[in-house]
Amino acid sequence: MPKVLIATEKPFAAEASAKIKAEFDAAKYDYKFLESYTDPSDFHKAVADVEALIIRSDKVTEEVLNAAKKLKIVVRAGAGYDNVDLKSATAHDVVVMNTPGQNSNAVAELAIGMMIYLARGKFNGKSGMEIAGKKLVLFGYGHIARLVARMAQGIGMAVYAYDPYISADIMTKDNVKPLTKVEDIFKTGDYVSLHIPSNSETKKSINWELLSLLPEGATLVNTARKEVIDEDGLLKAFADKKGFRYVSDVAPDNLDKINEEYADRIFCTPKKMGAQTAEANVNAGIAAARQIIGYLEKGDKTFKVN
Ligand code: 3PG
Repeated sequence: MPKVLIATEKPFAAEASAKIKAEFDAAKYDYKFLESYTDPSDFHKAVADVEALIIRSDKVTEEVLNAAKKLKIVVRAGAGYDNVDLKSATAHDVVVMNTPGQNSNAVAELAIGMMIYLARGKFNGKSGMEIAGKKLVLFGYGHIARLVARMAQGIGMAVYAYDPYISADIMTKDNVKPLTKVEDIFKTGDYVSLHIPSNSETKKSINWELLSLLPEGATLVNTARKEVIDEDGLLKAFADKKGFRYVSDVAPDNLDKINEEYADRIFCTPKKMGAQTAEANVNAGIAAARQIIGYLEKGDKTFKVN
């Protein structure tokens, strides 16, 4: 009977945990949950005797992989897998998968929600601004960005996108105008929404050189990763561009410094909230459980990322 660990520092909604249990009960798998842990050594201990692992943003380091002597598969219940040491997983003969698309709607709704929240002055009772009629540029056109595009069009925004890995036809079919240069993203957008992964190419890539191109009063929307932002450039954008605004799912490290002078132009979630809905947890949790069963029973490697 294969054994699975569900290790979530940020636990799934109860409904999702119940559905994950039901998947493993039906497959006659053994499983255990390690939730809200604060000491990584608890994770290292718990992973020692399992063949499969489900995580969220939990870090799967070389140390975790060394401790996981029987591990065959890790499924990141979510999109981004920058929290998994892929090289080490491959060296340990461990398959890594994500569950693309399963939590996208939750993240897209957060992006739109944060845009409106800041445009309306965080609902402070004073006159704010509408997002209808404004230009939104999506940097990256994957699952989340496509949903943001649809929602934004419903509100009345003009939507543009840049993604060198996606055909312009896909954007055009969605009534989204394709852009061909990174600079054009920042020159065009009243709102620029980031939908890029965090990797060696993208880390700190959103810098002053790009932010300086934004039109007056533009808002940068980050539901991707805080690591893609160059924080010196972000601070300079607040200082040099009087109407610049920033909304982000997870604060930059220099939030206190920014808040000292520009608190009315920034909003950040206190904890990463993008995928924090019952629906997203259920979708990603069930997909993760099924992918583990599919791999261990039939060798199905769909969604393998290493
Ligand atoms: C993702 O990459 O899927 C999101 O960032 C969600 O992360 P979380 O599962 O830690 O909320």
